[in-house]
Amino acid sequence: MSIKAVVFDAYGTLYDIQSVADVTEEAFPGYGEIITQVWRIKQLEYTWLRSLMGHYADFAAVTRDSLAYTLRILGLSDEPAAFDGIIQKYLHLDLYGDALATLSAMQDRRLAILSNGSPEMLNALVKNSGLDRLLQATISVDASKVFKPAPAAYALIESTLHVSPADVLFVSSNPWDACGAKAFGLNVAWIERVTGEAMALACVESTVLPPLTLFKAIRTQMDELGFAPDHRIRSLSELPGLLSQH
Ligand code: 2OP
Repeated sequence: MSIKAVVFDAYGTLYDIQSVADVTEEAFPGYGEIITQVWRIKQLEYTWLRSLMGHYADFAAVTRDSLAYTLRILGLSDEPAAFDGIIQKYLHLDLYGDALATLSAMQDRRLAILSNGSPEMLNALVKNSGLDRLLQATISVDASKVFKPAPAAYALIESTLHVSPADVLFVSSNPWDACGAKAFGLNVAWIERVTGEAMALACVESTVLPPLTLFKAIRTQMDELGFAPDHRIRSLSELPGLLSQH
């Protein structure tokens, strides 16, 4: 493997999507966790449904629609000030603590994002977090009008960076994304932020699963899709060491 480019998923990989929990709790005290988890579960579900239906709407629209769904099913008001206050956080998500140092340590490779996010959302997020100084490209699936894990979305890496899939390391903490990238033919490092042991323990310890535990059970454990990632790491900070072998 000769890795020329390292391409990152954005939401959940470089940026902590759980960091919306503060604003959801502030807007609707007592509901922060359930809003945060249902919203993200529905957001991704809508990307896949729209891709299968052949009715693409960009990630900004999907993010708004899934928040509207979440507030409606919980019987909460969708009055514009609270709604927009929550949505704005998507442009200011927290970076994982090791993201800046990791990307700084890999400046000898081409670094990029490939994300479901719309160009406007991603460009604002990357600029607000300071990653614009460390990335060569921020690629939105919007150019393919279909969401990951559709092959056409991953094909944007080669058409944008002019690096063949065999020379790309794709990094994601989202199991479905790691499987999709592997199925497409990229080298894949999956970040296992919640170990199988920790997951099993969390399930055993609670009789009623809190929303966050349910989210972790659905969206942080490797899927049974028949595509294993090439590398399994625990955090972004392991990447420079991994790449030094390649
Ligand atoms: C992404 O950034 C949605 O996490 C997914 O593409």
